[in-house]
Amino acid sequence: MKKLDILSAPYVEEMIEVTSNLYRLGWDERNGGNVSYLLDEKEVEPFLDLNDVQRKIPMIFDASGLKGRYFIVTGSGKYFKNVQKAPSENMGIIRIAEDGKTLDLLWGLENDAVPTSELPSHFMSHLSRLSVNPKNRIIMHNHASHLLAMTFTHELDERAFTRTLWQMCTECLVVFPEGISIIPWLVPGTNEIGIATAEKMKETRLVLWPQHGVYGAGETMDEAFGLIETAEKAAQVFTYVKAQGPILQTLTDENLWKLAHAFGITPHPGYLEDEK
Ligand code: 13P
Ligand code: ZN
Repeated sequence: MKKLDILSAPYVEEMIEVTSNLYRLGWDERNGGNVSYLLDEKEVEPFLDLNDVQRKIPMIFDASGLKGRYFIVTGSGKYFKNVQKAPSENMGIIRIAEDGKTLDLLWGLENDAVPTSELPSHFMSHLSRLSVNPKNRIIMHNHASHLLAMTFTHELDERAFTRTLWQMCTECLVVFPEGISIIPWLVPGTNEIGIATAEKMKETRLVLWPQHGVYGAGETMDEAFGLIETAEKAAQVFTYVKAQGPILQTLTDENLWKLAHAFGITPHPGYLEDEK
């Protein structure tokens, strides 16, 4: 059967759209940021010959838990601003091979490009999220400017950081009731940072990397993007609020409890003072 044009695949279009938006928001300077999107074989099959492996790519860690799974991922060292004009050079579709340590490249990553250097964090985070939500498909990393700045000025305590974000916009508690996790500063691209991120991903879909950026997860591109966008907006408001002067009023825990009841969500236990 004749294959359809891969550039018309909905997930390729979504990747182009999101990387372009992330670039325009200024969160992905140069090659900053990476996105991975779990695909079903049925979504890939109409577009690509699944037996036509372009190249075998070795990995620095064992991803046996994902063997046989398909992903579209951004390339390492690739600029998000260029994805739209050259999708096949800046992204690729890969399958985790039987040995768990090799990737079968099925499309893209032209000119010997390789998947993002953050693949350990992505794959380990996918495994964590899938263990708590089998519908999770997206892991997204970027250098969201105000969140990044806040890791210099705000204490890096998960409860305190989460509470500050919740207080900055009424929607925050509703969008990420589980809060935001924070790992220690670690060298990017390593298994160590992957393990630390993935551990946090079992509890929260947002994980902050101090002096670096943020990770977000979601069932859809919109969910992962919207999650980071909402936390980043809160961080932006925090930046303005700090610049404007002393805070005269804020969202109280009583307000936040009312919100939680109105929207039927459960805030991270212990992050709000007990209800009166
Ligand atoms: P890659 O270009 O390898 O995806 O790395 C970008 C980045 O943000 C590293 O943390
Ligand atoms: Zn980064």
